Amino acid sequence: MTKITFLNGQFIEHENAKIHIEDRSIQFADSVYEVVLFHKNKLADGLQHWQRLENSLAKLGMKMPYSVAEFDDYAKQLFNLNKLETASIYIQVTRGVCPRNQLIPQDIPQTVIMTVSPFKVPSTDLNKTTKAMLEPDIRWHMCDVKSTGLLIGSLYKQKAADNGCDDVIMHRDGNITECCFSNIFIVKNSQLITHPTDNLILAGITRATIIELAKKLNISTVERKFSIAELLNADEVFSTSTTTFVRPIHIINNKIMADGKTGNIAQSLFNSYINYINQ
Ligand code: PDD
Repeated sequence: MTKITFLNGQFIEHENAKIHIEDRSIQFADSVYEVVLFHKNKLADGLQHWQRLENSLAKLGMKMPYSVAEFDDYAKQLFNLNKLETASIYIQVTRGVCPRNQLIPQDIPQTVIMTVSPFKVPSTDLNKTTKAMLEPDIRWHMCDVKSTGLLIGSLYKQKAADNGCDDVIMHRDGNITECCFSNIFIVKNSQLITHPTDNLILAGITRATIIELAKKLNISTVERKFSIAELLNADEVFSTSTTTFVRPIHIINNKIMADGKTGNIAQSLFNSYINYINQ
Protein backbone atom coordinates (compact mmCIF):
# COMPACT_ATOMS: atom_id res chain seq x y z
CA MET A 1 0.00 0.00 0.00
CA THR A 2 1.27 3.46 -0.86
CA LYS A 3 2.05 5.54 2.17
CA ILE A 4 0.20 8.85 2.23
CA THR A 5 1.61 11.97 3.84
CA PHE A 6 0.07 15.34 4.61
CA LEU A 7 1.86 18.41 3.31
CA ASN A 8 0.38 21.92 3.53
CA GLY A 9 -3.27 20.92 3.32
CA GLN A 10 -2.83 18.11 0.79
CA PHE A 11 -2.66 14.35 1.07
CA ILE A 12 0.02 13.05 -1.27
CA GLU A 13 2.16 9.99 -1.86
CA HIS A 14 4.95 9.93 0.71
CA GLU A 15 7.61 9.70 -2.02
CA ASN A 16 6.37 12.96 -3.54
CA ALA A 17 6.26 14.93 -0.29
CA LYS A 18 9.05 17.49 -0.72
CA ILE A 19 9.83 20.78 0.96
CA HIS A 20 11.90 23.69 -0.29
CA ILE A 21 15.67 23.82 0.40
CA GLU A 22 15.22 27.26 1.93
CA ASP A 23 12.74 26.13 4.52
CA ARG A 24 13.75 27.69 7.85
CA SER A 25 13.55 24.29 9.50
CA ILE A 26 16.68 23.33 7.55
CA GLN A 27 18.52 26.62 8.04
CA PHE A 28 17.72 27.36 11.69
CA ALA A 29 15.73 24.38 13.07
CA ASP A 30 12.99 27.03 13.06
CA SER A 31 10.24 24.50 13.60
CA VAL A 32 8.41 22.52 16.25
CA TYR A 33 6.78 19.13 16.33
CA GLU A 34 4.46 16.74 18.09
CA VAL A 35 4.18 12.96 18.20
CA VAL A 36 0.62 11.71 18.82
CA LEU A 37 -0.73 8.21 19.02
CA PHE A 38 -3.77 7.19 17.00
CA HIS A 39 -5.24 4.26 18.89
CA LYS A 40 -8.74 2.75 19.19
CA ASN A 41 -9.91 5.06 16.45
CA LYS A 42 -8.98 8.26 18.25
CA LEU A 43 -6.05 10.52 18.96
CA ALA A 44 -4.72 9.76 22.43
CA ASP A 45 -4.73 13.00 24.44
CA GLY A 46 -5.18 14.89 21.17
CA LEU A 47 -6.24 18.17 22.76
CA GLN A 48 -3.22 18.25 25.09
CA HIS A 49 -0.89 17.66 22.13
CA TRP A 50 -2.46 20.46 20.08
CA GLN A 51 -2.27 22.79 23.07
CA ARG A 52 1.41 22.00 23.55
CA LEU A 53 1.98 22.58 19.84
CA GLU A 54 0.35 25.99 20.21
CA ASN A 55 2.56 26.77 23.24
CA SER A 56 5.74 25.70 21.44
CA LEU A 57 4.81 27.85 18.44
CA ALA A 58 3.90 30.83 20.64
CA LYS A 59 7.26 30.67 22.43
CA LEU A 60 8.93 31.06 19.03
CA GLY A 61 6.55 33.81 17.97
CA MET A 62 4.53 31.64 15.58
CA LYS A 63 0.81 31.00 15.27
CA MET A 64 -1.12 27.76 14.89
CA PRO A 65 -1.49 27.27 11.14
CA TYR A 66 -4.82 25.49 11.65
CA SER A 67 -7.44 25.34 14.39
CA VAL A 68 -7.45 22.41 16.80
CA ALA A 69 -10.54 21.02 14.99
CA GLU A 70 -8.74 21.24 11.63
CA PHE A 71 -5.61 19.58 13.00
CA ASP A 72 -7.76 16.83 14.48
CA ASP A 73 -9.58 16.34 11.21
CA TYR A 74 -6.42 16.26 9.07
CA ALA A 75 -4.78 13.75 11.44
CA LYS A 76 -7.87 11.50 11.31
CA GLN A 77 -8.06 11.68 7.52
CA LEU A 78 -4.37 10.83 7.26
CA PHE A 79 -4.77 7.88 9.60
CA ASN A 80 -7.74 6.55 7.62
CA LEU A 81 -5.99 6.96 4.27
CA ASN A 82 -3.07 4.85 5.51
CA LYS A 83 -5.33 2.04 6.73
CA LEU A 84 -3.35 1.29 9.87
CA GLU A 85 -4.66 -0.18 13.09
CA THR A 86 -2.56 1.85 15.49
CA ALA A 87 -0.22 4.59 14.36
CA SER A 88 2.06 7.28 15.62
CA ILE A 89 1.55 10.58 13.86
CA TYR A 90 4.47 12.97 13.53
CA ILE A 91 3.46 16.59 13.02
CA GLN A 92 5.94 19.30 12.17
CA VAL A 93 5.26 23.00 11.72
CA THR A 94 8.01 25.25 10.37
CA ARG A 95 8.12 29.00 10.05
CA GLY A 96 8.17 28.61 6.28
CA VAL A 97 10.39 29.28 3.28
CA CYS A 98 12.61 32.35 2.98
CA PRO A 99 16.10 33.05 1.54
CA ARG A 100 18.50 32.62 4.48
CA ASN A 101 18.14 35.62 6.76
CA GLN A 102 19.02 35.78 10.44
CA LEU A 103 16.11 38.16 10.99
CA ILE A 104 12.73 36.52 11.37
CA PRO A 105 10.58 36.98 8.26
CA GLN A 106 7.02 38.13 8.93
CA ASP A 107 3.86 36.64 7.47
CA ILE A 108 5.26 33.88 5.33
CA PRO A 109 3.16 30.72 4.91
CA GLN A 110 4.15 28.05 7.41
CA THR A 111 5.09 24.54 6.27
CA VAL A 112 2.99 21.79 7.84
CA ILE A 113 3.96 18.14 7.58
CA MET A 114 2.19 15.07 9.00
CA THR A 115 3.47 11.54 8.53
CA VAL A 116 2.20 8.29 10.01
CA SER A 117 4.05 5.15 11.05
CA PRO A 118 2.62 1.85 12.23
CA PHE A 119 2.81 1.60 16.01
CA LYS A 120 2.96 -1.43 18.26
CA VAL A 121 1.63 -0.94 21.78
CA PRO A 122 4.47 -1.79 24.23
CA SER A 123 4.16 -5.21 25.81
CA THR A 124 2.92 -5.57 29.39
CA ASP A 125 5.98 -7.73 30.10
CA LEU A 126 8.30 -5.08 31.45
CA ASN A 127 11.01 -7.51 32.43
CA LYS A 128 13.40 -6.85 29.59
CA THR A 129 16.39 -5.26 31.33
CA THR A 130 16.77 -1.62 30.36
CA LYS A 131 20.12 0.12 30.78
CA ALA A 132 20.84 3.84 30.84
CA MET A 133 23.89 6.05 31.22
CA LEU A 134 24.27 9.54 32.63
CA GLU A 135 25.38 12.52 30.55
CA PRO A 136 25.35 16.28 31.17
CA ASP A 137 22.33 18.10 29.80
CA ILE A 138 24.00 20.40 27.30
CA ARG A 139 20.79 21.40 25.50
CA TRP A 140 19.58 24.99 25.33
CA HIS A 141 17.43 26.59 28.06
CA MET A 142 14.12 26.32 26.15
CA CYS A 143 13.55 22.60 26.57
CA ASP A 144 9.84 23.29 27.15
CA VAL A 145 9.60 24.06 23.41
CA LYS A 146 9.18 20.85 21.43
CA SER A 147 11.77 22.01 18.94
CA THR A 148 13.04 19.95 16.04
CA GLY A 149 16.55 20.96 17.13
CA LEU A 150 17.07 17.45 18.45
CA LEU A 151 20.72 16.83 17.66
CA ILE A 152 21.90 16.46 21.27
CA GLY A 153 19.16 13.88 21.93
CA SER A 154 20.07 11.99 18.78
CA LEU A 155 23.84 12.05 19.51
CA TYR A 156 23.14 10.84 23.04
CA LYS A 157 20.85 8.04 21.83
CA GLN A 158 23.65 6.88 19.55
CA LYS A 159 26.18 7.16 22.39
CA ALA A 160 23.88 5.02 24.54
CA ALA A 161 23.65 2.39 21.78
CA ASP A 162 27.43 2.45 21.27
CA ASN A 163 27.82 1.75 24.98
CA GLY A 164 25.31 -1.09 25.12
CA CYS A 165 22.67 1.12 26.73
CA ASP A 166 19.09 1.93 25.76
CA ASP A 167 19.00 5.54 26.86
CA VAL A 168 20.79 8.54 28.30
CA ILE A 169 19.56 10.23 31.48
CA MET A 170 20.61 13.89 31.51
CA HIS A 171 21.62 16.07 34.45
CA ARG A 172 22.13 19.81 34.82
CA ASP A 173 23.74 21.47 37.86
CA GLY A 174 23.73 18.15 39.69
CA ASN A 175 19.99 17.53 39.14
CA ILE A 176 18.35 15.03 36.83
CA THR A 177 16.31 16.68 34.09
CA GLU A 178 14.97 14.05 31.67
CA CYS A 179 16.00 11.38 29.15
CA CYS A 180 16.78 12.21 25.51
CA PHE A 181 13.20 11.66 24.32
CA SER A 182 11.22 11.01 27.50
CA ASN A 183 10.59 12.29 31.03
CA ILE A 184 11.92 10.54 34.09
CA PHE A 185 10.44 9.57 37.45
CA ILE A 186 12.04 8.02 40.50
CA VAL A 187 10.29 6.24 43.35
CA LYS A 188 11.59 6.62 46.91
CA ASN A 189 9.73 5.24 49.92
CA SER A 190 6.61 4.75 47.75
CA GLN A 191 6.61 8.40 46.62
CA LEU A 192 6.96 9.44 42.98
CA ILE A 193 9.41 12.25 42.27
CA THR A 194 9.81 14.02 38.95
CA HIS A 195 11.40 17.27 37.74
CA PRO A 196 8.95 20.22 37.76
CA THR A 197 7.72 21.56 34.43
CA ASP A 198 9.91 24.56 33.69
CA ASN A 199 12.20 25.59 30.86
CA LEU A 200 14.60 22.69 31.55
CA ILE A 201 12.32 19.83 30.50
CA LEU A 202 9.56 19.13 28.04
CA ALA A 203 6.17 19.04 29.76
CA GLY A 204 5.39 15.49 28.67
CA ILE A 205 1.76 14.62 28.03
CA THR A 206 2.41 11.08 29.29
CA ARG A 207 4.12 12.53 32.38
CA ALA A 208 0.97 14.52 33.18
CA THR A 209 -1.28 11.49 32.62
CA ILE A 210 0.94 9.34 34.85
CA ILE A 211 0.69 11.91 37.64
CA GLU A 212 -3.13 11.80 37.32
CA LEU A 213 -3.18 7.99 37.30
CA ALA A 214 -0.86 7.91 40.32
CA LYS A 215 -3.36 10.09 42.20
CA LYS A 216 -6.12 7.58 41.45
CA LEU A 217 -3.88 4.79 42.77
CA ASN A 218 -3.16 6.82 45.92
CA ILE A 219 0.51 7.11 45.06
CA SER A 220 1.79 10.48 46.24
CA THR A 221 3.75 12.51 43.71
CA VAL A 222 6.05 15.44 44.23
CA GLU A 223 7.31 17.61 41.39
CA ARG A 224 10.73 18.79 42.50
CA LYS A 225 14.33 18.66 41.39
CA PHE A 226 16.25 15.56 42.46
CA SER A 227 19.96 14.89 42.44
CA ILE A 228 22.11 12.28 40.71
CA ALA A 229 22.64 10.64 44.13
CA GLU A 230 18.87 10.43 44.66
CA LEU A 231 18.49 8.82 41.25
CA LEU A 232 21.15 6.23 41.98
CA ASN A 233 19.61 5.43 45.37
CA ALA A 234 16.02 5.27 44.15
CA ASP A 235 13.78 2.25 44.73
CA GLU A 236 12.49 2.47 41.15
CA VAL A 237 13.28 4.53 38.06
CA PHE A 238 11.17 4.80 34.93
CA SER A 239 10.74 7.05 31.92
CA THR A 240 7.53 8.11 30.19
CA SER A 241 6.66 9.14 26.64
CA THR A 242 3.92 8.89 24.03
CA THR A 243 5.67 6.02 22.25
CA THR A 244 7.17 4.09 25.18
CA PHE A 245 4.43 4.67 27.79
CA VAL A 246 6.11 3.68 31.08
CA ARG A 247 9.58 2.23 30.71
CA PRO A 248 11.41 0.93 33.79
CA ILE A 249 15.15 1.51 33.94
CA HIS A 250 16.99 -1.30 35.70
CA ILE A 251 20.67 -0.42 35.36
CA ILE A 252 22.22 3.07 35.42
CA ASN A 253 25.96 3.59 34.78
CA ASN A 254 26.40 -0.15 35.43
CA LYS A 255 24.72 0.10 38.85
CA ILE A 256 21.81 -2.31 39.28
CA MET A 257 18.86 -0.36 40.64
CA ALA A 258 17.26 -1.95 43.74
CA ASP A 259 16.97 -5.67 42.90
CA GLY A 260 17.25 -5.12 39.16
CA LYS A 261 13.60 -6.04 38.60
CA THR A 262 10.70 -3.86 37.48
CA GLY A 263 9.19 -2.27 40.58
CA ASN A 264 5.54 -2.55 41.62
CA ILE A 265 4.80 1.12 41.13
CA ALA A 266 6.18 1.21 37.57
CA GLN A 267 4.24 -1.95 36.73
CA SER A 268 0.95 -0.69 38.16
CA LEU A 269 1.31 2.69 36.45
CA PHE A 270 2.08 0.93 33.17
CA ASN A 271 -1.05 -1.23 33.60
CA SER A 272 -3.17 1.81 34.42
CA TYR A 273 -1.77 3.64 31.42
CA ILE A 274 -2.66 0.72 29.12
CA ASN A 275 -6.23 0.78 30.51
CA TYR A 276 -6.35 4.54 30.07
CA ILE A 277 -5.20 4.42 26.45
CA ASN A 278 -7.61 1.57 25.63
CA GLN A 279 -10.65 3.44 26.90
N1 PDD B 1 9.47 12.62 22.59
N2 PDD B 1 11.05 14.82 26.88
C1 PDD B 1 11.54 14.87 25.64
C2 PDD B 1 12.86 15.56 25.43
C3 PDD B 1 10.84 14.31 24.57
O1 PDD B 1 11.34 14.38 23.32
C4 PDD B 1 9.60 13.66 24.82
C5 PDD B 1 8.79 13.05 23.72
C6 PDD B 1 9.13 13.61 26.14
C7 PDD B 1 7.82 12.95 26.50
O2 PDD B 1 6.73 13.71 26.05
P1 PDD B 1 5.33 13.01 25.71
O3 PDD B 1 4.94 12.22 26.90
O4 PDD B 1 4.42 14.15 25.47
O5 PDD B 1 5.54 12.15 24.50
C8 PDD B 1 9.88 14.22 27.15
C9 PDD B 1 8.73 12.12 21.46
C10 PDD B 1 7.93 10.91 21.74
C11 PDD B 1 9.67 11.98 20.28
O6 PDD B 1 10.42 12.90 20.06
O7 PDD B 1 9.62 10.98 19.55
